[in-house]
Amino acid sequence: MNKKIGTEILGTGSYFPKKVLTNADLEKMIDTSDEWIRTRTGIKERRVSEKNEPTSELAYKASIEALEDAGILPEQIDLIIIATMTPDMLVPSTACFLHKRLGLTNSAPSFDLSAACSGFIYGISAAKAFIESGLYKTILLVGAEELTKFMDWTDRNTCILFGDGAGAIVLSASEENDNVLSVFLGADGSYSNLLFLPACGTACYDPADDMNGHTIKMQGKEVFKSAVPKMVLAAEKALSFSKKELKDIKLFIPHQANMRIIEAVAKKMGVSMDRVFVNVHKTGNISAATTITALDEAIKTGRLQKGDLAELIAFGSGFTWGATVIRI
Ligand SMILES: CC(C)(COP(=O)(O)OP(=O)(O)OC[C@H]1O[C@@H](n2cnc3c(N)ncnc32)[C@H](O)[C@@H]1OP(=O)(O)O)[C@@H](O)C(=O)NCCC(=O)NCCS
Repeated sequence: MNKKIGTEILGTGSYFPKKVLTNADLEKMIDTSDEWIRTRTGIKERRVSEKNEPTSELAYKASIEALEDAGILPEQIDLIIIATMTPDMLVPSTACFLHKRLGLTNSAPSFDLSAACSGFIYGISAAKAFIESGLYKTILLVGAEELTKFMDWTDRNTCILFGDGAGAIVLSASEENDNVLSVFLGADGSYSNLLFLPACGTACYDPADDMNGHTIKMQGKEVFKSAVPKMVLAAEKALSFSKKELKDIKLFIPHQANMRIIEAVAKKMGVSMDRVFVNVHKTGNISAATTITALDEAIKTGRLQKGDLAELIAFGSGFTWGATVIRI
């Protein structure tokens, strides 16, 4: 009898643009202060991509690192998924731009996935399903964002929060290793008016519009109120689906939106902060790229070792939420 196919994690990678935008820089642009931003969000700085450096370029650099880490060649990928809310263009997909940049000639299908800040967890779910159904064997899953290109730099409530970056993971079919133990996803479209990016969408078509439609709109306080309970719910569900307990998880990797959200989630879950990964101070919120870049950093800095269990937890526009329990 054939053994059950599991989803093995072969490698991870990440990439951040070189340019750093500090809170001190923002003080020169808007009426704000480093102290306000740090105490309300935990963010000290974020990375900003260049004009001629699209999302697919960040995705490419993160992917190359993940492929090297996995020890496989680009030609061995048979599906590319990019989770992003800031694509290079509306069409073609950013995944197709990445396909070209990687020089693939093997016709590997490639598509973008839209679930905002939960995009990487949605991507893990899709990749696991593709692999374990036997449809695809080796998947490159990327979370890549350039949120600074969709900011209203006069809106101090929002522009202080976001940054740019990309992370990638290579997942493969395996009869020996099953590294993705569980996934839980959720959504509630009735909150779609609280955090959105109209840019170029058919619901906001207006030939007379200026750049107004091109920037993220958010009611931060309302988003905060939903983020905490939904992240706790997602974390509990994924944990119970994995048949593990809180004490079994070495490191919790929550979506890096805001330090206060992260601390509130940890407190509600009854987890001490030394078991929670945080890098929001140097990245800001990079949406679909947060959990994968944080995972990559946790592995590369030794906070996660082979065999450890980690739980990734996310929440974002939609609203969408999700969590996954993985074994390194
Ligand atoms: C956006 C957020 C940081 C604002 O923090 P807050 O404590 O809710 O602050 P408030 O909105 O109540 O604003 C308090 C005051 O600070 C002001 N303020 C807002 N942004 C400011 C800034 N960058 N600098 C200085 N003052 C600012 C407000 O105008 C307000 O002033 P007022 O009382 O005179 O009107 C917070 O709501 C948040 O983090 N929300 C979640 C957003 C998020 O993470 N979204 C993505 C989820 S995926």
